[in-house]
Amino acid sequence: MMKNQKTDNVIIACDFSSAESLFGFLPAFGELRPYLKIGMELFYAEGPEIVRKLKSMGFPIFLDLKLHDIPNTVKKAMSVLSHLDVDMCNLHAAGTGAMMRAAIEGLTREDGTRPILLAVTQLTSTSQETMNRELLIDGEMPDVVSRYALNAKEAGLDGVVCSPLEAAVVKRSCGEKFVTVTPGVRFADSSVNDQVRVTTPARARELGSDYIVVGRPITAAENPYEAYMRCLEEFNGSR
Ligand code: C5P
Repeated sequence: MMKNQKTDNVIIACDFSSAESLFGFLPAFGELRPYLKIGMELFYAEGPEIVRKLKSMGFPIFLDLKLHDIPNTVKKAMSVLSHLDVDMCNLHAAGTGAMMRAAIEGLTREDGTRPILLAVTQLTSTSQETMNRELLIDGEMPDVVSRYALNAKEAGLDGVVCSPLEAAVVKRSCGEKFVTVTPGVRFADSSVNDQVRVTTPARARELGSDYIVVGRPITAAENPYEAYMRCLEEFNGSR
């Protein structure tokens, strides 16, 4: 590893269907404790115990459950997640400012600390046409994304999950300090899988990503440790 290499801004998307497969994968990292993203599949399969176990082993956790419900329900659910001691979690900005403010209340612990809270603006699987015609949201995708991001910022959230290609627009509307966490990352020489719009780790950094979320380029690599190291080096290269 490069001396002083930052390791806290490349998040590995652990899209495994069972704890067994996750715990078969993690020994590849030895003593290292990379940031892990746990999504709905693994959380619904294994329950909160998987988060407790990973936290007790020292892994920082982004719990990607994308909450969206009435404010009171989200507040109470966020309180549960906060006490699981996750480091980062998220919700849909479409739930409105009232829901986002309630989420922050629920997430804030007795000592005033809380996990990083991010909003999903529009899912990258939603095209502009679908958004306009099916969801009846008029306008251009970048304008809608930046407006939802601004709603999240005004509600007190820390940032958004977005495409690296939207990171610049988000930084412009919400400021440099507003965090951007971006999936859709691929090495220049690797398969894009089912992702449509992808960027390399280095390009994601240039576009304004603060964290990248990388799944298959690491989880399906012949050598996941080397793939993770390559991400860190490409993403943090000239910092
Ligand atoms: O394997 P891959 O690198 O494509 O994984 C990307 C991860 O980021 C997956 O967990 C996927 O669900 C998530 N994600 C995404 N695009 C979004 C939001 C989340 O790919 N807009």
